[in-house]
Amino acid sequence: MTQTLTIKRPDDWHVHFREGAMLNLVAPYTARVFNRAIAMPNLRSPLLDGKACQAYKKQLVAAGGGHRFTPLPVLYLSDESDAETIRAAHPQVIAAKFYPRGATTGSLQGVSSYRKILDALAAMEKVGMLLLVHGEATEEDVDVYDREKVFIERTLTPVRNHFPELKIVFEHISSRDAIAFVAETSRTAATITPHHLLYNRSDLFGGGLRPHRYCLPVAKREEDRAALEKAATGGQAHFFAGTDSAPHQQADKCKDYGCAGIFNAVAALETYTEVFERLNALRKLENFTSVYGARFYGLETNQETITLKRRAWRVPEKIEGLGLRITPFRAGETIDWQVIDKNAGNGND
Ligand code: NCD
Ligand code: ZN
Repeated sequence: MTQTLTIKRPDDWHVHFREGAMLNLVAPYTARVFNRAIAMPNLRSPLLDGKACQAYKKQLVAAGGGHRFTPLPVLYLSDESDAETIRAAHPQVIAAKFYPRGATTGSLQGVSSYRKILDALAAMEKVGMLLLVHGEATEEDVDVYDREKVFIERTLTPVRNHFPELKIVFEHISSRDAIAFVAETSRTAATITPHHLLYNRSDLFGGGLRPHRYCLPVAKREEDRAALEKAATGGQAHFFAGTDSAPHQQADKCKDYGCAGIFNAVAALETYTEVFERLNALRKLENFTSVYGARFYGLETNQETITLKRRAWRVPEKIEGLGLRITPFRAGETIDWQVIDKNAGNGND
């Protein structure tokens, strides 16, 4: 049985760091493990242009808790985004995020229809800026469990047909439909989260409502979860790690209209490792966490490494500080793998 595992240092291709005290509380958890981190732009004031991304990047670097860490904030597309927005942000900003308006946290200024941003998409295709999508249809007639499938039909397929050279990352995929869509061309890829690998929709309800397992897109059927495991561990370069770590205060999750989002930075790499081991695919972990994403983004892979050791540890029940309280992913559970690399700075080795 493998006891230690050394892999190239991973990158997280999808993280929410927030702002202010929350940023300072959560950023070190990502920075201790990951080198690059695609920082999501759905802030209270969304990152609508390149300047806002640059200013946010400084805040992120300062919040990394002394770890070596390369945050990469991305643009927030709105109906007002145009070719000039893209040209002005390029090349410092390497990607732009498409939130369908109203789909999730911080999406009220998102895109009402892809037809509104054709000029921006054309410019992105031309300069080689990646399009990152929250792939859920928001029309009221769409059942919440079908949102991903309908988004593929109504938005992603026409966008891909219209802009065949545009590189698209279908974020945090949750369904077999999304896996199939992504696998069709080398220009599309997808991030897969630790929580979509662990939970199916029954896990949100078994024994009582589990708000800390609630995120968007919501977990789907067991067949979908199992298909995601297969996609993640199958060694196909379309699929790579993006945690979608999305902290909300405990009180904001445990209320009527509770927020969607799971704070998993505390145990993301460790969970991926457990999943890959369970599927007898540990040798494929490094490509998923540390190679395929960089390659799709056209970036070098990291030179440094990180080491995990087989050693049981318990995920804290709460993450508290700076006046905030978060219940993390897998709170109170025991995990078999622990990051011990000295660069990770957890002080244990
Ligand atoms: C994210 C958040 O809280 O910002 N929530 C989530 O459930 N994933 C937004 C998002 O990625 O949808
Ligand atoms: Zn997200």
